[in-house]
Amino acid sequence: MLKSFDIYNQNNILKIIVAVNLLLVGTGSLLYTNRLIERLEQREQQYVQLYAKSIAYLVDPNHINSGDLTFVTSEILEANSTIPAIYVDPNNEISKPNNITLTAGLSAEETQRELRSIIADMRERHSPVVVEMGTGERGLVYYDNSPLLRQLTYFPYALLTILLALGLLAYLAFSSSRRAEQNRVWVGLAKETAHQLGTPLSSLMAWVEFMRSDTAQYDESITDEIEKDVKRLETITARFSSIGSVPTLKDENINDVVSQLTDYLAKRISTKVKMSLSSQLPTEKTVQINRLLFEWVIENICKNAVDAMKGVGELRLTMQQLPNQRIAIDITDTGKGISKANMQKVFNPGFSTKKRGWGLGLTLAKRIVEEYHSGRLFVKSSEVGKGTTFRIVLNG
Ligand SMILES: Nc1ncnc2c1ncn2[C@@H]1O[C@H](COP(=O)(O)OP(=O)(O)OP(=O)(O)O)[C@@H](O)[C@H]1O
Ligand SMILES: [Mg+2]
Repeated sequence: MLKSFDIYNQNNILKIIVAVNLLLVGTGSLLYTNRLIERLEQREQQYVQLYAKSIAYLVDPNHINSGDLTFVTSEILEANSTIPAIYVDPNNEISKPNNITLTAGLSAEETQRELRSIIADMRERHSPVVVEMGTGERGLVYYDNSPLLRQLTYFPYALLTILLALGLLAYLAFSSSRRAEQNRVWVGLAKETAHQLGTPLSSLMAWVEFMRSDTAQYDESITDEIEKDVKRLETITARFSSIGSVPTLKDENINDVVSQLTDYLAKRISTKVKMSLSSQLPTEKTVQINRLLFEWVIENICKNAVDAMKGVGELRLTMQQLPNQRIAIDITDTGKGISKANMQKVFNPGFSTKKRGWGLGLTLAKRIVEEYHSGRLFVKSSEVGKGTTFRIVLNG
């Protein structure tokens, strides 16, 4: 069901969501990068302190302030408070697991097993650093990325994903805003047209009544013809007025509606078009439709079919029950067909291959079927040079 104003509101909400999310992502990534910077800063401070100590050691020949070289081992080892590392000695014994959280409550043997599997993981990411013992023996230091580095690695991807999601949201907001605007133009134009036609029409009807009352002066058959045309204009006005408001659906006998319309159309199209209707639906079958608008759909599709056949050929309407309480109305012609490339385009507003076509007939038909009747309208099949079948699916 179409409610253009709702779409408009929804679209505003979407815009607010996009804006709020952008703000959140902006502040979030700012705070996050700030935290990363702080931690990097802390780490650099530690390194600089170590650097200062090393200098003190070099410049102070007596090593009074810097003591002995133990600061190298203790401070460097302590300085690594983040990088997970495991030392494996030349005898393949594991010692000094650093910054590694093991599962609690494991036996010694299980701990060993867990450490080995961690080492295997580490080896996949980085080849170990060799520790030369000077005796020809070698130990190995296995290590992994620090949490900081890991976060830094994922950060751009996370940001990209969020930005892509936001981009998509923004696109949706934008396109639904365009659709909402188009809706307003449609609906407004239709309402205005119906409104403007109303006055001259009632006056024309009055004139017809007047002519009917004076059969001496006005030929009755002419009055009849004028009345028919006025009635037709009334139907058109009523259609425009229905599309300009939310139309009401009513239970209608679908066989009757379609057969009356086929009779009406058959009289108006070229006699070289053989028009037929076959229905597999039960005679009493009713379907919820807005008759005025539904007739407009069938008319548009049939008119296109006649155009495609250049006035000569076969126009077949068939109706059948589909599963899930739906019915199908197929309209088949033996016309020029639609190329694969144009199959979807035929529903685009303004798409026409005709000299005098507006390219609006099918747009309108699709809109009436899908938005007002919650049904579907599509090209069921088409072959260039052979013909086309349009299918309308309705709930019923
Ligand atoms: N049965 C058909 N067989 C072949 N082509 C078709 C058929 N129905 C529609 N088309 C193609 O789809 C285009 C769009 O149809 P649509 O009814 O929307 O506009 P139109 O008929 O060109 O103009 P109008 O606004 O007057 O209806 C047509 O110009 C035609 O090329
Ligand atoms: Mg058309």
